[in-house]
Amino acid sequence: MESESGPSGPRLAPLRIGPIAVDPPVLQAPMAGFTNWAYRALVRRFGGVGLPATEMVSARGFVEMDRRDAGEPGRLWGVRDEPRPLAVQIWDNDPDTLAEVARRVAHDFRASVVDLNFGCPARDVAQKAESGAYLLDDPPRIGRLVERVVAACGDVPVTAKIRLGPNDDQITAADVAQAVEGAGGAALTVHGRTARQMFRGQADWDRIASLKQFLKRIPLIGNGDLNTPRDVIDVFARHPIDGVMIGRAALGRPWLFARIAAALAGDPIPPEPTPAEQGRLLLEHLDLAVQRFGERKAIVLMRTYACRYGAGQPNIRAFRTDVCRVETIGAFVDAVRRTFPTDA
Ligand SMILES: Cc1cc2nc3c(=O)[nH]c(=O)nc-3n(C[C@H](O)[C@H](O)[C@H](O)COP(=O)(O)O)c2cc1C
Repeated sequence: MESESGPSGPRLAPLRIGPIAVDPPVLQAPMAGFTNWAYRALVRRFGGVGLPATEMVSARGFVEMDRRDAGEPGRLWGVRDEPRPLAVQIWDNDPDTLAEVARRVAHDFRASVVDLNFGCPARDVAQKAESGAYLLDDPPRIGRLVERVVAACGDVPVTAKIRLGPNDDQITAADVAQAVEGAGGAALTVHGRTARQMFRGQADWDRIASLKQFLKRIPLIGNGDLNTPRDVIDVFARHPIDGVMIGRAALGRPWLFARIAAALAGDPIPPEPTPAEQGRLLLEHLDLAVQRFGERKAIVLMRTYACRYGAGQPNIRAFRTDVCRVETIGAFVDAVRRTFPTDA
């Protein structure tokens, strides 16, 4: 057993998002470009995640593709029939568009949870489309959007993911939290940075935790900078949060959730897979994706996700450069074989 493991896990209350039991109370963060079907399947295979999530899906883009009869967005590949629970995240600032796409995601795609993105500070989303974190300076507007989406989703719970506010002089999260709860939201996830911070500095867990007092009915999920099982044990021990969400630390390490779940349960933490095991995993996963989607889609899904793999491995830079560009199964397999040892 590693030192990260507590003598026994902390006592955690069960986390529920509407009718959905999130057990353990550890959520996989939505991450554009990464948390695709391939990634989610691997996370589920290792286990330990209470609620996986898609990448954020542009509601306007969805409507536009529909109008052109262009199929469904790549970010929704696999969603219809993969295991549940699963959260699908969407973004926009227009109540009609958001409500229409939320209804489709809830009813046609049967998402367990529809999550609304009010935290993305990326230029295309926040500045250009005036969505995501742009909306944090207008809590009543967020409330109105949530209310429309809740009405469109029926029994499917609607959650919101936010940051602390637009910047250090405008920490609006308490008002946003109350707006989300008042509008019928089923949970609130807070990334403990402001939009202006992007990813600079540290997530402020005291500020995240201070929001608990404003939520009477719905759970508070904290997010930001959790890297190890120990980090998760510590935030649950120190702060009155109901759940945690993990993003970057698990991108190249889909087994991290299983290690965290073991630590929370007070069980021995499984070891990190060896480099040879990681290489085999990538190839097995490629196989699965090819069977599921055919070569073209499988390569698109696998290359973004494989390029986060193999931290600490010699030649990893070359691997990441190569694998992000491969066009064929053969080239993917060659890149993996060149980099990862083949024996256990
Ligand atoms: C590459 C990348 C893509 C992201 N995409 C999304 C997204 O689609 N939706 C969202 O709500 N947050 C997105 N985020 C933010 C993460 O969900 C999370 O809030 C953030 O990374 C902080 O958590 P962490 O420290 O555990 O990574 C993204 C972050 C990164 C680095």
